[in-house]
Amino acid sequence: MEKKPVIILGIESSCDDTSAAVLRDGVLLSNVTASQAVHEAYGGVVPELASRAHQQNIVPVVDQALKRAGVSKEELSAIAFTRGPGLMGSLLVGVSFAKGLAASLGIPMIDVNHLQGHVLAHFIREEGTPSDLPPFPFLCLLVSGGNSQIVLVKAYNDMQIIGQTIDDAAGEAIDKCSKVMGLGYPGGPIIDRLARQGNPEAYEFAKPAIEGYNYSFSGLKTSFLYNLRDWLKDDPDFIEHHKCDLAASLEKTIVDILMNKLRRAARDLKIRHVAVAGGVSANTGLREAFREHASRYGWKIYIPKFSYTTDNAAMIAIVGHFKYLDKDFCPMEAPAYSRVAI
Ligand code: KG4
Repeated sequence: MEKKPVIILGIESSCDDTSAAVLRDGVLLSNVTASQAVHEAYGGVVPELASRAHQQNIVPVVDQALKRAGVSKEELSAIAFTRGPGLMGSLLVGVSFAKGLAASLGIPMIDVNHLQGHVLAHFIREEGTPSDLPPFPFLCLLVSGGNSQIVLVKAYNDMQIIGQTIDDAAGEAIDKCSKVMGLGYPGGPIIDRLARQGNPEAYEFAKPAIEGYNYSFSGLKTSFLYNLRDWLKDDPDFIEHHKCDLAASLEKTIVDILMNKLRRAARDLKIRHVAVAGGVSANTGLREAFREHASRYGWKIYIPKFSYTTDNAAMIAIVGHFKYLDKDFCPMEAPAYSRVAI
């Protein structure tokens, strides 16, 4: 008898993207995401508005994901959902929807740690595209709006944070500095675009001296703000005149901070397989730094496709796939959690 395929529906709703994806035997069939433009006017995600938008988006997004995959609800093996960390109101929408659908179909539910999803996004396979999967153990630099961590990945289900930010995340620092410059939200892609036309050596900002593999970005943020204030006193149009150099210097400082610790960790642990994940992994300067490290230090690097850098349900579904194979299901009463380690 032919073996039944494992078909996983993944649901992601931890912040401001409502996403659903379908995987068959670990191969991506669809990945549909509805973003929320409503937050742009506020310069950051407004939790109450985010949960309302998730409620509006979740049904059409799941419907589209199933249609594009050519899969009916009845064919699903299990439903994987982001349980945390994230915004509680946002998480609750995805968690409740997943529970309702799983109960009505009589299939298992799989709870997924959002951060593990970012790391395991490197294992999503696409039809007709050769896969280059990292072997265990590997290091993953996980950088997003809420996290900056160096993760030692020993297996699909065995990850250890060996370094992390003690204050702001890298993406948060970029977004805040961009806000100070009066640029739009989110700042990351804007800073990235401006930085391509600027001189990264034009300005110097504070770099932290933190023990071990940990990070800190709050000093950099303050140094950026105070320097800018001084320069604006002399030239009220300073930002307009120098925004490309400011963006390039800021980006370079953040990339240097991230790579210095990652390089040290890779050297100490003698690991040459190094991956990057999370929203900030879309950054051009960071990607270039990875490629430069690959040629200089003999690293084998793993850089995600742009569609897997920001929040998406394909990464939730791939964790669901591995947990399904281990029969690692969760009970119906499993609550969402806003904070949790990897
Ligand atoms: O992983 P992610 O989508 O979600 C959260 O952590 O919520 O990461 C979002 C972060 C934001 O701070 C955004 O500014 C940053 O990723 N980001 C970038 C780029 N694209 C997104 N930062 C630098 N360069 C980019 N191209």
